[in-house]
Amino acid sequence: MNLNLNGKRAIVTGGSRGIGKAVIDNFVAENMQVATCARGLASLEKSLTEWNKAGTCVTGQSVDVTDEQAYANWFEQSVQQLGGLDILVSNVTTRIESKGIERWKDTFEVDLLQHIRATELALPYLKKGNQPAIVYVASIASVMTANMPSEVEYGTMKAALVSYATQLANQLGQFNIRVNLVSPGPIHHEQGFWEMVKQKQPDLYQRACAVSVFNRMGTPTEVANAITFLSSPAASNITAVNLRVDGGAIKTVNY
Ligand SMILES: NC(=O)c1ccc[n+]([C@@H]2O[C@H](COP(=O)([O-])OP(=O)(O)OC[C@H]3O[C@@H](n4cnc5c(N)ncnc54)[C@H](OP(=O)(O)O)[C@@H]3O)[C@@H](O)[C@H]2O)c1
Repeated sequence: MNLNLNGKRAIVTGGSRGIGKAVIDNFVAENMQVATCARGLASLEKSLTEWNKAGTCVTGQSVDVTDEQAYANWFEQSVQQLGGLDILVSNVTTRIESKGIERWKDTFEVDLLQHIRATELALPYLKKGNQPAIVYVASIASVMTANMPSEVEYGTMKAALVSYATQLANQLGQFNIRVNLVSPGPIHHEQGFWEMVKQKQPDLYQRACAVSVFNRMGTPTEVANAITFLSSPAASNITAVNLRVDGGAIKTVNY
């Protein structure tokens, strides 16, 4: 199947590791132009060298998406460098350290508001884009009533993100902009949250594996493949969808 992504211009937030990096790996393979950001520059620079070896065009900068002005500056500059924008993959999350009400505020900022900020920044350009699409990275935590105690705020914000994105899909159809989400189950990668759990709480890691009917964690590439498809013109009649990539973890009928 031809995804028809060749030459498309994309912004992928949080591309230095994990799911964001795997999305950019796919986009590079499709010969796309990509801009990305993360706070830590070292791992981003390592990936940038790899991606650009083959002559593709990926740019990246150290930006904190919760710094409204810095984020807006980077976004505008990236769109200018790309010469427009066709695809937004809004992917960033951060493990929040604060407690109580501060934790709610911090999680709201990082798991909801910055996605909305990205959308507001992208929309004027996507409206002029070539078969434009937005994909948000949500989580199955949005539908779970038994999240880990540390994930109550996270699950709530991801649920709000699903609601926001599917309402947006309805509003943006008139501009031929498709809006979808991907909701991963537990995804393991070497620099990720679950690697830490694997080392420190192997029992919890095993229980998280067991939610999948395959009794294993997913991989960043498995999530990235779904994001790549939904971003592409191959999914031209798909909008307002929240696609779970969770190994069948959520045991409800998905009508
Ligand atoms: N992994 C899972 O099990 C899982 C399950 C369900 C849903 N998800 C969702 O999938 C997405 C990606 O997950 P992941 O596991 O790949 O995450 P990850 O390994 O923690 O990577 C997050 C990326 O975002 C960047 N980032 C974090 N905070 C940032 C900030 N404030 N400003 C700019 N960049 C920032 C990180 O780089 P820096 O830290 O250097 O900034 C990194 O590049 C998230 O939306 C997450 O909620 C993941």
